[in-house]
Amino acid sequence: MNRSAENLPWIEKYRPQTLDDVYGQREIVGTVRKFVKEGRLPHLLFYGPPGTGKTSMIVALSREIYGTNYRNMVLELNASDDRGIDVVRNQIKEFASTRQIFSKGFKLIILDEADAMTNAAQNALRRIIEKYTKNTRFCILANYAHKLTPALLSRCTRFRFQPLPTDAIEKRVNKVLILENLKLSREAFTALLRLSKGDMRRALNVLQASKATLDDPDAEVTEDTIYECIGAPHPQDIETALESMLKDDWSTAFFTVNKIRTLKGLALIDLVEGIVETLEGYELKPETRVELLCKLSDIEYAMSKGGNDKVQSSAVIGVVKSSFELEA
Ligand SMILES: Nc1ncnc2c1ncn2[C@@H]1O[C@H](COP(=O)(O)OP(=O)(O)O)[C@@H](O)[C@H]1O
Ligand SMILES: [Mg+2]
Repeated sequence: MNRSAENLPWIEKYRPQTLDDVYGQREIVGTVRKFVKEGRLPHLLFYGPPGTGKTSMIVALSREIYGTNYRNMVLELNASDDRGIDVVRNQIKEFASTRQIFSKGFKLIILDEADAMTNAAQNALRRIIEKYTKNTRFCILANYAHKLTPALLSRCTRFRFQPLPTDAIEKRVNKVLILENLKLSREAFTALLRLSKGDMRRALNVLQASKATLDDPDAEVTEDTIYECIGAPHPQDIETALESMLKDDWSTAFFTVNKIRTLKGLALIDLVEGIVETLEGYELKPETRVELLCKLSDIEYAMSKGGNDKVQSSAVIGVVKSSFELEA
């Protein structure tokens, strides 16, 4: 690894170089490779949650198809760059209409984050796609298919990227741990896999952040560090907060909750999410559960609209206290 690679974020440093480095997406890799082999590549749409390998896969696939000719044959555009469809149109026009002197076959245009485009821009894009289909293939990448216009959807063969299975993340993370000479405790590893929720980008970012917190590079990353780096509350802290809300008087509970939040640097919204997750493991009367979840969801909504922190955290305590009265 050269020096400049040392300074790269790990998500770039460990970006898959070939299709074989793209984990957990065997079926899609297989189908797309087959299209290429049979020389009938359609326009493609890759959609699904972030960090599942959409960009990595199309870049690796293009490398496989074009090899050293990649630069001449592939145009990568990011639709969320704030430049408007006219700029995109001109770039595509210029790229698609230059003659291919050295090679046969299709040119490929990758349009990343296409669901950030307005409907008008998508309609313009549809016409562009039609115009250049003769010698060009498009690969559209998006998080949500429902944000794309039907006209655009109907012109592409769709592939849905699922959140990555735990074992795919586990294998990739294990490789990185060896290459980075980094050690994780068993609990830390389990927490990392669980908290990544199928998002490899998140897993790698958290790993890199947790390495940076180590004073001694040979030390093990602990479970606490993983929770801190991901900004998620530790289940034990949620238990402590809940217990205080249930057993202590109001002021003590308020004090305890705030202390935990300050010490652990938790946003109220993380705490609410943590409580909801922890409650899944509690045995409760149905009415209690319904009451709690409805009211907590109101608080979450209020927070997302910019509700006052102190008022909302008081509300959390109030909701927990009053809902649990239904248990009695
Ligand atoms: N399926 C995967 N296999 C291996 N690495 C992956 C995978 N998905 C994501 N990554 C890692 O996460 C980073 C971001 O992936 P990316 O392909 O940009 O995701 P997306 O485009 O789906 O948001 C990549 O650089 C790579 O390191
Ligand atoms: Mg991407």
